Amino acid sequence: MLNKKILIANFKMNPQNSKEATTLLKNILKDLKNIKNTEIVFAPPFIYLENLKKIIKKYGLASQNLFYQDNGAYTGEISYKMLENLGVNYAILGHSERRALGEDNNFINQKLKVLTKSSIIPILCIGEKVRDDNHEYVNFLQNQILECTEGINKKILEKLIIAYEPVWAIGKDADREATPEEFLEIKILIKKVLALKFGVKNINNVRIIYGGSVDDKNIFGFLEKGETDGFLVGRASLYPKKFIKIINYTENLPKMHA
Ligand code: PGA
Repeated sequence: MLNKKILIANFKMNPQNSKEATTLLKNILKDLKNIKNTEIVFAPPFIYLENLKKIIKKYGLASQNLFYQDNGAYTGEISYKMLENLGVNYAILGHSERRALGEDNNFINQKLKVLTKSSIIPILCIGEKVRDDNHEYVNFLQNQILECTEGINKKILEKLIIAYEPVWAIGKDADREATPEEFLEIKILIKKVLALKFGVKNINNVRIIYGGSVDDKNIFGFLEKGETDGFLVGRASLYPKKFIKIINYTENLPKMHA
């Protein structure tokens, strides 16, 4: 049986007002028909979540962040309960753009832990800043995985999604996207690190996806050779035509191979 691929649209700090956000989402949704093989998730800025939930229908809604306390004196923070109340079903944790603002593995670990109490599915981001010739990035990634998952309840592994997003491949200043082979190598590494820590049978359901300059041109390689469970898409998700192409490739690849 073929597993569904997951496609997460990370709008980041875009668009600039609620009306534009609604238009963007509507322009994507109007062309989606008979989606069966793909789990589609939209991650808009917090302030658009409530409005977009009304038009999102059967697709998933993600927050781009959350805080690990349930309530209290935490100015500027948003709890998982508030997000649940809005109908949010996924949360991106530890995105490199948040790490660049100071979030470290221990902080991200607390956010992951709080989701044991929640129905929200965590999308944990990891990724090295540089690829050095000595392969130091392998240790760096291993450390990110171990520290971010330290002391978590094994129940989280049943729903955990890990997004491998090399920092050098993200955004308009990216060097290049990773190759499908590079992604596959890291996917195996992630599985190995998790299997050694939690036991092979406990990590069967962990999904590992790729992010970093994904577009309608390079997605095919990742689907064919990268064995990815899905994608975290930034810029390309802001262009309905591009994003729909990405969805259609993801959706139809199993048929092409039938
Ligand atoms: P990008 O962003 O697709 O614009 O490179 C991906 C991400 O940061 O999630």
